[in-house]
Amino acid sequence: MLSERMEKALNGQLAAELYSGYLYLSMAAYFSSENLPGFARWMRIHRLEEITHGMKFYDFIESRGGRISLAGIDMPPGDWESALQAFEAVLAHERKVTLMIHDLVDLAIEEKDHGTNSFLQWFVDEQVEEEESARNVIQNLKRVEGAPGGIYMLDKEMGAAVFNPQPAGIAGGVG
Ligand code: FEO
Repeated sequence: MLSERMEKALNGQLAAELYSGYLYLSMAAYFSSENLPGFARWMRIHRLEEITHGMKFYDFIESRGGRISLAGIDMPPGDWESALQAFEAVLAHERKVTLMIHDLVDLAIEEKDHGTNSFLQWFVDEQVEEEESARNVIQNLKRVEGAPGGIYMLDKEMGAAVFNPQPAGIAGGVG
């Protein structure tokens, strides 16, 4: 059974994950409008991953006998000055999400809620990967700065991204 405080915090994270998906969908639209379909595809895939993250929280809350409570989702920004600026925004956003996950872990430890703590460890690891992935793209974008054509080569690379729903069988695979 979840405490009331934990139930509220997990529902808050569910909304935050859905916002992340909304933000990346907005970035997908931005990259499409910049004629960078590979970057747009990368963002669309990340949007799917965020929805999957949100559904993991949804399923976990229910599995612990909690009640889902959906919150409003803020309007994301719609424009960026460059691909580099957009990815710097991705990194800043993911760092914020990392802090939110760490706050949840702290709460689980405080409440001696080992089940929730164990569930959250997947997200702790995932955030390390997400920050690394954003940092890598930023590094690549900085490398091609000022090199005409470089961004289009990167766009091709970004377009090769594939959606990997992990782990199979749960988290948003249904409905
Ligand atoms: Fe669900 Fe990008 O963190």
